[in-house]
Amino acid sequence: MLNTHKIRADFNILSKKDGKIPMYLDSACMSLKPNSVVEAMNDYYFNFPACDRSLHKLGSTVTKKVKEARELVAKFINAKNLDEIIFTRNTTEGINLLANSFGLVKGDVVLVSDKEHNSNLVPWLLLRDRVGIVVKIISSNVNGTFNLDNFSKLISGVKLVSIVHTSNLDGVTNPAKEIIEIAHQNNALVCLDAAQSIPHRKIDVQDLDVDFLAFSGHKMFGPTGTGVFYGKSKLLEKLSPFLVGGDTVEFSTYDSYKMLPVPEKFEAGLQNYAGIIGLGEAVKYLSQFDFEDIVEHELKLNSYITTELKKISGINIIGPEDPKLRSGIVNFYIEGTDMHKFVIMLDEMANIEIRSGQHCVHSWFADKKIYNSARVSLYLYNTIEEAEAFITNLKKIIEIL
Ligand SMILES: Cc1ncc(COP(=O)(O)O)c(C=O)c1O
Repeated sequence: MLNTHKIRADFNILSKKDGKIPMYLDSACMSLKPNSVVEAMNDYYFNFPACDRSLHKLGSTVTKKVKEARELVAKFINAKNLDEIIFTRNTTEGINLLANSFGLVKGDVVLVSDKEHNSNLVPWLLLRDRVGIVVKIISSNVNGTFNLDNFSKLISGVKLVSIVHTSNLDGVTNPAKEIIEIAHQNNALVCLDAAQSIPHRKIDVQDLDVDFLAFSGHKMFGPTGTGVFYGKSKLLEKLSPFLVGGDTVEFSTYDSYKMLPVPEKFEAGLQNYAGIIGLGEAVKYLSQFDFEDIVEHELKLNSYITTELKKISGINIIGPEDPKLRSGIVNFYIEGTDMHKFVIMLDEMANIEIRSGQHCVHSWFADKKIYNSARVSLYLYNTIEEAEAFITNLKKIIEIL
């Protein structure tokens, strides 16, 4: 069981003595940062704010720390080789890296689900418009869960399946292992968008046999603007980088160049060293917990909120009714209500912070003709008292609206 009280002391914002502590229920967008992550970044800026690979003492410290961060990430997802870990700015960059480096040509088919974040839809639609690839959409079951039959019907002839692991829309986790197995039987490769799964569940890339994986550091305690793109070594070697320049080549002449091997050929220009070092620290922080405890804690809070929401007429929860299937996410809308207005009132009245809008899954909202929703997203520092305060204040707002 998690000791939430102790955990909260690790976060400056949750243990401030002065002023009001926010009830932060928006971790699917951005997790809070433990003090150890901020300190690791400060250590870089205060003590060795230099370039990776410069041979002087400061540079060597950066090189060593970046390598340590890469090792921590590789171990965290059980990558076979260090060079399978490419540092990026976020999940979006990882998926764009794949879309622009994979070498897809006219007529190649990419399969995505009907609940993709724009980051895993728009790069493929752009390629459709630029080079003529075909983008096919897998329809989910009515309750939002993955439909393996629909997937199996579409898989033949597909080059790449790029699919969300845990949905930021409804918290549903797709059956990655089965999807990957079926895709491989049909000679298709698979990229998982793990932005929402990596903070909450163990990901073992070798056990999943996933070909590519993209995730963000900032949703798993890491600094903002940090991410990772994983790929199997033999596949990364074949990809042709789309962002090149400093640090991606071994040498160049006026009319030639020699690329460095992976991961360097994908990490163009000077990097966000403080962020990468902070990300390593975030991995260390997250690794001290048992994922089963995280899931159990989030389920307890999600179950309470779901039960209470279901008692209120006019509230619609997006996705399956069963909170067990929704990770730490409760996304809902009230018929006839602009949920932006609702979340602003919640913040002003009670200092409770949740997110409203279409959560970058505009395609789903457009299809369902729903204007917007409000999303509670939980993490290991949230408490049952916060969940109760959310319900109490939601009821007050509904009376006012
Ligand atoms: C499922 C999913 N995919 C991709 C992204 C994009 O992440 P980022 O903005 O960090 O690139 C998000 C962000 O919310 C997400 O929830």
